[in-house]
Amino acid sequence: PYVIAEPCIDVMDRSCMEECPVDCIYEGERKLYINPLECIDCGNCESACPVQAISQDRRVPDDQEQFVEDNRAFFEKP
Ligand code: SF4
Ligand code: F3S
Repeated sequence: PYVIAEPCIDVMDRSCMEECPVDCIYEGERKLYINPLECIDCGNCESACPVQAISQDRRVPDDQEQFVEDNRAFFEKP
């Protein structure tokens, strides 16, 4: 799946939401999150983000690996 990383924090442009065909991008307090179980890997959101916050999970920069887990965990809250 695709993952939203650090550049989204406190930016929350939301262009990505409009481009997602399955509406699997959700708003948190300071950034948005992609539900990895719903993402169909279309890639639309990656080019829509003005701050390049989105990438495929395998291509997330090393110093932002934590956001892969962070996106997953966001959808496991009770
Ligand atoms: Fe939505 Fe496609 Fe981005 Fe996945 S890759 S979050 S399906 S726009
Ligand atoms: Fe965030 Fe970029 Fe979407 S800043 S809200 S990931 S368009």
